Amino acid sequence: MEGEEEDDIVCLDESFFINDNYQLTTFTFGSQVLELYCLHSASTDFDLTGQLVWPGAVLLNEYLSKNAEMLQGLSVIELGSGVGVTGVLCSRFCKKVLMTDHSDEVLKILKKNIDLHASSENFPCSDLEAEKLEWGSSDQRNEILQRYPEGFDLILGADICFQQSSIPLLFDTVKRLLQIRGKGRCRFILGYVSRAKVMDQMVLNEAQGHGLSTKEVCGTRSVVGNLEGVIYEITLQ
Ligand SMILES: C[S@@+](CC[C@H](N)C(=O)[O-])C[C@H]1O[C@@H](n2cnc3c(N)ncnc32)[C@H](O)[C@@H]1O
Repeated sequence: MEGEEEDDIVCLDESFFINDNYQLTTFTFGSQVLELYCLHSASTDFDLTGQLVWPGAVLLNEYLSKNAEMLQGLSVIELGSGVGVTGVLCSRFCKKVLMTDHSDEVLKILKKNIDLHASSENFPCSDLEAEKLEWGSSDQRNEILQRYPEGFDLILGADICFQQSSIPLLFDTVKRLLQIRGKGRCRFILGYVSRAKVMDQMVLNEAQGHGLSTKEVCGTRSVVGNLEGVIYEITLQ
């Protein structure tokens, strides 16, 4: 019987499980309106969380839209970009935006959304690109840094803290990206949504354990969907 289980072959292609029926959808963040392809509900595979727009992106984008002057002329890297709703918004104000994700499937729709915006006459984008970046991967990080040796002014993350095992790796990546510019010259802005107390604490502990200081941005604690969210600004100590 054991042998039979080991030899069990499932004759289904993995594409059978992937919903890529993306819909062009309009989002409004303050005075900013943008269109993107995304799903409206998640695929069953939780590696595919990036196929839709999350509440943390709504929180972060509303904050960025209200404070767009702080983005003017910056070079930005976004972690866990998903369909790219935050990076695309930033590209209206920043000098350069590099969106990243670890999922090949998510990178496909991210690149499609870049093409959609690159071809739009209404919103000529600044330099907007996508690259693969798995948190904790020094190879992928180094490949990016070969292309951007001067690093970035700003690191962004929207709703990227939901899986405990990835949090130490996320903060390792954040710390190394912050260190390229050095203290006071780069910061990480995180749109955080609270789903479990254990994660709330873990985020703060991991940041501190990596030598980072976390400040809640005044006035940003609010309800998004039916969850509490907040914007954190994280810097080298
Ligand atoms: C909940 S989604 C948020 C997507 C988007 N930022 C938003 O708010 O709409 C989390 C994103 O992080 C990416 N992600 C998850 N774990 C990752 C990891 N270890 N390395 C890189 N990206 C990761 C997922 O592929 C997904 O796109």
